Amino acid sequence: MSLKLAIVSTGRIADGQLAPALKHQEDAVLWSVLSRNRQRATEFAKRHGARSPNPAYDDLDALLADPKLDGVIIASPDRLHAEHALAAVRAGKHVLCEKPMVTEMDEGRELVDAARAAGVRLGVAYHMRHHAGHRRLHGLVQAGKLGTLRHARVQWTWQAPDDGNWRAHSDVGRWWALAGVGTHLLDQLRWIMGPTCGEVVRLESVIAHSVFNGPHDETAVLALQFETGATAELCASVLFDAPKRLEVYGSRGYGICEDTFGPHGEGDIWTDRGKLPFTPTNPFAGEIADFAAAIREERDPEVNGEEGLRNVELLLRAVGAAA
Ligand SMILES: NC(=O)c1ccc[n+]([C@@H]2O[C@H](COP(=O)([O-])OP(=O)(O)OC[C@H]3O[C@@H](n4cnc5c(N)ncnc54)[C@H](OP(=O)(O)O)[C@@H]3O)[C@@H](O)[C@H]2O)c1
Repeated sequence: MSLKLAIVSTGRIADGQLAPALKHQEDAVLWSVLSRNRQRATEFAKRHGARSPNPAYDDLDALLADPKLDGVIIASPDRLHAEHALAAVRAGKHVLCEKPMVTEMDEGRELVDAARAAGVRLGVAYHMRHHAGHRRLHGLVQAGKLGTLRHARVQWTWQAPDDGNWRAHSDVGRWWALAGVGTHLLDQLRWIMGPTCGEVVRLESVIAHSVFNGPHDETAVLALQFETGATAELCASVLFDAPKRLEVYGSRGYGICEDTFGPHGEGDIWTDRGKLPFTPTNPFAGEIADFAAAIREERDPEVNGEEGLRNVELLLRAVGAAA
């Protein structure tokens, strides 16, 4: 029987990527949805074919009280993740939480502990791990084809037209460029380098916010060092458009990804040996399939709550907050 999943919030990622990706699942369906506005929930449920006889809610506790509901995908603004995800795991529902998982370490620890106590799965939605080309390159790196990893460089930027987005402000946002895309870049670095290079042991950052003069990072430039001594550079910005890049350098070769970051699973990848072919697949469908498989197989999702929390710790350190 298909897993019945709800989506919390009806915004851009829920409407444009998550609900459509649920249609590609073999063993999971969109069951219900929560919005602050009941009418918006009703329209969302209809648009995406939610299967519950009562699919539209404007009250989280009521949505979670549905005994048929198996799990929840949290797609609310960052500062609301902890409250929404905690309520879900305490109601005995599995949770796939959008990135970044939380905005404070103590709430993240509470969430991880609560999920464990409730015996439910907690995953974090880093869909770029499910890019088919990234997975090929990741496989080559972990198999040692690039030799010993020495350095990586990641860049993802866009030009925000103004500071109207909630990420630019503190009520429901905590970081701007770092939350929009930088957290994905940190996850990619940890995913590719972590298995052979160990933990991040050093992080230096330059945070600029002098264009809109708000409280959050507009451009974030991070320098990182791993346990083996390997290094990495990260640039995330809301101030300019630029090619999206992932570069990884080892003692015997390198891999370069250009314009692979984004929702579609596309872009180009090559190594020192030539172009790396891959067939684009929907990375959001991949992350949800992994979450559904994790529930069925009683294992952690590919990015579990602990990993989500380590990412948050680095985000906090990057902006000089206590982690
Ligand atoms: N994996 C990715 O690549 C990716 C990409 C984009 C976003 N995300 C993540 O998904 C989450 C949502 O981002 P988004 O871009 O979809 O944002 P968005 O378009 O602004 O949508 C957020 C939704 O949250 C609900 N909401 C509840 N309380 C709110 C409040 N106080 N202020 C604003 N909205 C509120 C709203 O839905 P209702 O009005 O229906 O309640 C709103 O539409 C974020 O955590 C973000 O980091 C992930």
